Amino acid sequence: MNELEHAVALLRQGELVAIPTETVYGLAADAANPAAVAKIFALKGRPSDHPLIVHIAGLAQLDDWAIDIPAEARALAEAFWPGPLTLILKRQPHVPDAVTGGQDTVGLRAPSHPLAHALLERFGGGLAAPSANRFGHVSPTTAQHVRDEFGEDSPLILDGGASPVGVESTIVSLVDDTPKLLRPGGVPREAIEALLGRKLEHHQNNKTAKIRASGLLDSHYAPRTPLLLGSAPRLMEEAVQRLASGERVLLLLRTTAASIPRGAELQSLPDDAAHFARELYALLRRHDRKHDVLLMETPPQTPEWLAVNDRLKRAASTRLD
Ligand code: TXA
Ligand code: MG
Repeated sequence: MNELEHAVALLRQGELVAIPTETVYGLAADAANPAAVAKIFALKGRPSDHPLIVHIAGLAQLDDWAIDIPAEARALAEAFWPGPLTLILKRQPHVPDAVTGGQDTVGLRAPSHPLAHALLERFGGGLAAPSANRFGHVSPTTAQHVRDEFGEDSPLILDGGASPVGVESTIVSLVDDTPKLLRPGGVPREAIEALLGRKLEHHQNNKTAKIRASGLLDSHYAPRTPLLLGSAPRLMEEAVQRLASGERVLLLLRTTAASIPRGAELQSLPDDAAHFARELYALLRRHDRKHDVLLMETPPQTPEWLAVNDRLKRAASTRLD
């Protein structure tokens, strides 16, 4: 039996399998099996009322999971699947509460990663999968990251290399009349708006929102070492002060600085958004708990940086300017 068949067999038995996707690695279980889905929450330590995305092979499975599907949802799926777009739709009555958090909606996405796609084709059903990290931690973008998260508790991990997108899928809700952007991600907001011919309402973090999305909680995606964001000059000042009080300082800079304060370490960052997104979580993991503070240059506030800025806002403990 090859590894893919082994994974399918485990999933059919109600076991978990960690899978590569183009965004981040997922912790997958048979979405039709509530006992299997419960194992995801147990391993992640995630509150059980947080809904999970159901991953499917493609458009052909959409009606297996959702009802009252608006034409706009089909158009988006046709344009962006397989790929990093999750659609929130009214659920089919059979979709387990364990998957939807008891809501009457379901999140659906067809990943484009060849290994995830092949697995879904063979499995035939849907795979409920959150990011394969413990609750509140940085999402994994390699098989090793998943091993680092779960250690001896790791399930079978399918190794599909580093995730090429690096941040999670864009989530769009199509359950009422106006389409809403719940989470910026791998598919640019503008591409979705261009296809729909109208603007998306952007739902910023709102703890009282009826729509629960754990990716919307403030402290998500956070490294343990404090991460501070600021302009390069402001970071230099901060570095000098902290070095003077004996702290180990890492500067993460996108632009080349004239001079780095003595004693500070430097990590240069990619200066295009796609590249930055691909590297971000690996960088946060690599540098976590090795310094007293991470001082990162704030990216531009332009559309192509939307998803990165969203994740940084949640990962950072402070904005210096
Ligand atoms: O790229 C991704 O989306 C990755 C890969 C593995 O597919 N998955 C991922 O899953 O990021 P997770 O569980 O870490 O984040 C999914 C987000 C959560 O914030 C969840 O609350 C939200 O999607 N979500 C899922 N179903 C929902 C629903 N019915 N209504 C509103 N939000 C939903
Ligand atoms: Mg997550």
